[in-house]
Parts: sequence; structure tokens; C-alpha cells
Amino acid sequence: MTDQTWVAPPDDAEVVAGLGRSFADLFGGKPDGVWAAPGRVNLIGEHTDYNGGWCLPLALAHRTYAAVRHRGDGHLRVASRQMSGLGYDGPVPGVRPRDPGGWVAYLAGVVAILAERAGPDRCGVDVLVDGRVPLGAGLSSSAALSCSVAVALRDVVPGLADLGDAELVDVCVRAENAYAGAATGGMDQTVSVRAVDEHLLLLDARDGTVTPVAWTLPEHEVLVVDTRASHSLADGQYAARRATCEAAAAALGLSSLRELGPGNVQDPEVVARLVGVPHGRERVRHVVTENERVLDLVAALRERDARAVGALMTASHLSLRDDYEVSCHELDLAVDAALGAGAVGARMTGGGFGGSAIALVRRDSVDRVAVAVASAFAEAGLTAPHFLSAVPSRPAGRVR
Ligand code: GLA
Repeated sequence: MTDQTWVAPPDDAEVVAGLGRSFADLFGGKPDGVWAAPGRVNLIGEHTDYNGGWCLPLALAHRTYAAVRHRGDGHLRVASRQMSGLGYDGPVPGVRPRDPGGWVAYLAGVVAILAERAGPDRCGVDVLVDGRVPLGAGLSSSAALSCSVAVALRDVVPGLADLGDAELVDVCVRAENAYAGAATGGMDQTVSVRAVDEHLLLLDARDGTVTPVAWTLPEHEVLVVDTRASHSLADGQYAARRATCEAAAAALGLSSLRELGPGNVQDPEVVARLVGVPHGRERVRHVVTENERVLDLVAALRERDARAVGALMTASHLSLRDDYEVSCHELDLAVDAALGAGAVGARMTGGGFGGSAIALVRRDSVDRVAVAVASAFAEAGLTAPHFLSAVPSRPAGRVR
């Protein structure tokens, strides 16, 4: 039998203690406090957020922590317990798009954008992060990073206390788009900052409204399979999908694909207008049908209909695989193996091209499904996947 690796949620007290020790070693003294922001899985509604559509993510119990100390001199120092040395050590106005690059850009971008509002001198901080959202797993470790620092700065920098949660989300999205160079929508940052404990969050990306949705299936849980096929949104594929959707909306004379209903996809005029957009018809079909699936899934949850929830998840996967073409061998294998072992539904989650799959599984068959997925990976000669339980958890905030 194959052993499985489960990634447990972090223990706040242990993380805070570790951050305190490392902060003293690196920067001397103590932080003003420790803040944390969650990663996420999206139950359904994939590649809809940047099309003004619907999605239904939940905040994980796995979070990124930031120990932060305000300093009055406009200087920024950044470090991570997962990396050696300082990621940035310079003035706040020295932060530019993609410079510093890599993981530091998500964090430094937030500081630079908040400095537009509060002034660079007031935004000087020492920051040490401890990321407990698996990296590169499509679970939004990057949004957890930017959001943990954004909520911290709101608390410690004079003049930022009146920033609302929705504004803070915008700051984090801008940091990711402009400073990290990833053209993502706002789903990940929204759920990280605005989640409601023990609920999913229905996001209407057209206007940013959120509605908490209760998890009504106590006998089922969402099992996360981190395929460990590495995933990056800063590469060209994500941006290419987004560009196709924008070209399709423009060809149809719409402000976003949200304006299309399911019936429109077959409409001869719509079909004719999309002829000039490579893959336009398939990409549009995914977005339109996915929006409908989100609302159907919310209705199925309200009716406590696990079978319908699962069927919608699996239909979403097929649409992402065949029409949107963002799945990959590892994700398809995880989905097929989970379904073969009795999962009620399964799909890739997040941007795709690697990262994680999720499965709706009866609590009494979680182990069986995990064993089946791990065995399928071993037989295929793939790196062993990791497993997590997706427990709808609380939003970003202060821990200590
Ligand atoms: C990534 C992005 C999100 C969203 C998903 C796909 O997670 O950050 O904005 O577009 O991909 O649904």
C-alpha cells in the first residue's frame, strides 16, 4: 500500500513562536504583531472571475503568516522563513514592477501601492513571513502572502485604518497584476480577505459582491489533491486565456462574457462573430456554462443534494479540460482516480496547468479515495501527491 502525505493546517502558537525567534535573529527585537491570511480552494467557477462572472471559493485553514514591525523611516526589509537572507532591503520608493521579483514582488508591491495613499515614509516596515500554504500547489499561496501583509499594514501604518476590505482586495490584486506580473482576477484575494468562517463565499466578480454560502453536507468533505505538478500563473498560458476572452467579448460587442447567457452560445450570430477569435467558441462555451454551474451548485447545496454538487464539479472539470484546455495529465489522473474510488465529484481547482484537484468525498471514504489516487500516481511513475482537507476557515486578520 502507498503511504500518503497529509499536509496539516499550521498551529498558530507554534508559527508565532518560530517567527518571534527568527525575527529577533534577523532584525533584532520584536515585531509589533503577527497577521495571517488563508490560501483557498475554489469549489466551482474557474476562469470566470476575470470575465465578470461567478465563483465559489473557500478559505483554507492553511495560512501565510507575517510578523511585521513599523518603522518611521520609509525603509523596507523583507525576509521569509522559507528562504535564506533578505529578499529586499531598501527604500519603499525603490520598489518597482518586477523589481524585486519573484515572491518578494507580491509583498513589496502591496507596500508600494499602500505608500501611494499613506506616503512612503509611513510605510517603512520590517516583514518576516512564514508561508504555510503549500507553494506552487494552486492554492493561492501568493494571495495569502500579499493579503497577510496588506492586513498588517492597515493595522500598523498611520492613515490606513479606514481602508475597507474591498479596497484592500483591490490593493492586493494590483500588486499581483502590476508588480508580480500575473494577470489574475480577484477571486483569490477576495476570499483571503473577505471569507466568512465555516462558509463558502459566492463572489459576483462583476461588482465584487460576496455572499456567504453554508456548507450543508456534513457527511461529505472536500479532499484536496496537490498533484505537485508545479503551477505558475506568471507564465503565458493564463494571460493567453484571459486575452482570448477579452478578444471574444470585444468581437461580440460586450463589456464582458458575463453578459452572455447559456442559450447564446449556439446563436448563429455569436458563432459567426467568434470565427475570427482562435479557440473563441470553446473558451466562451466554458465561461458561459461555468457561470451557470456555479449558480446551480449553490442551489444544490441549499437543497443538500450531494449528488448534484458532485455532478456539477465533474462537469466543470470536463469543460476546463476540453473547452478551456487548462488541465494536464496529473490533474486528469487525480480526478479519474478519485471518481473511480467513489468520490461523488471531482475537478481541478485554480488556474490549472498543474496544482491541485479537489474531490467531494463521503467522510467515511476519504482514506480509500486518497489511497486510490496515491496508487494511481505511483503506477504512472509520478511524484507522490500530497493531501489536505479543505475546511472552510476564517479570513485574513491579526493573530498576535
Ligand atoms: C487563479 C487566479 C484567479 C482565477 C483562477 C481561475 O487562481 O488567481 O484570479 O482566475 O486562477 O479561476
